[in-house]
Amino acid sequence: MELLEAVLSRTSKRDFMDKPVPKELIVQILSASLRAPSWANSQPWEIAVSTGKTSEFIKNSLYELAKNNTPINPDYPFSISRRLANANLSSTPINSDYPVPNTWPEKQEANMFETGKHRFEQLGIGREDAEKRREFALANYKFFNSQTAIFIYLEESLGVWSILDCGMLIQNILLAVHDSGLGACPQAYLVAYPDILRQAFGLPANKKFILGISIGYYKTDSKINDIKTFRNDFEDIVKFYD
Ligand SMILES: Cc1cc2nc3c(=O)[nH]c(=O)nc-3n(C[C@H](O)[C@H](O)[C@H](O)COP(=O)(O)O)c2cc1C
Repeated sequence: MELLEAVLSRTSKRDFMDKPVPKELIVQILSASLRAPSWANSQPWEIAVSTGKTSEFIKNSLYELAKNNTPINPDYPFSISRRLANANLSSTPINSDYPVPNTWPEKQEANMFETGKHRFEQLGIGREDAEKRREFALANYKFFNSQTAIFIYLEESLGVWSILDCGMLIQNILLAVHDSGLGACPQAYLVAYPDILRQAFGLPANKKFILGISIGYYKTDSKINDIKTFRNDFEDIVKFYD
């Protein structure tokens, strides 16, 4: 696939087949992705690939915690929009004293609201159907039925530039997965309870999780996998200065 074609056609997938991804393919995807640039080539990222029994442990543990409304404790605080939560568009189980600012600038909040609304319309899940919305949100913790997830983590003393570097790595991974004909979903939800991840991977407390990415063979006949999210108008974002 041509690079620009891959950039333009990639979308997040949220309905996978229960089928393992061959290790050689994961190695190929990650080897290429690790060519990402980073501050002074510091290469701050560390990666844990979860498959098999490890995935079962993580999925079951995260799912149980979330299902029981256990307050999240991510290493890097989530910025959850109260408006979206109230509209049942974000079902992360937040506790009322969650220590993050939960208002977003108007434009970003409108973008998130439209995206969430469109997603549930596509799924035919009504605004009042809190149970179905919650069920869909909880599917996050089961890797959307995939057997494989890639977790990105860092040593805790690394700062904001290293997080930016990891973003570049993550986009490489998403594009390389797409190029291989598989699907991926970057998921903050997967790092909502990072103690489970440290336990699963045998990591000390100073390793901090940024993001999980479910990857796998996705269902092509699934409505949720068919969503193409909108982008703001080019002219509203990009300004040229002669
Ligand atoms: C940092 C980050 C965290 C995300 N967390 C989640 C998540 O927990 N669950 C989910 O379903 N999608 C998650 N997404 C996917 C976004 O919702 C998605 O990228 C966005 O709606 C744009 O859609 P697209 O990826 O199909 O272009 C996340 C994306 C990013 C970049």
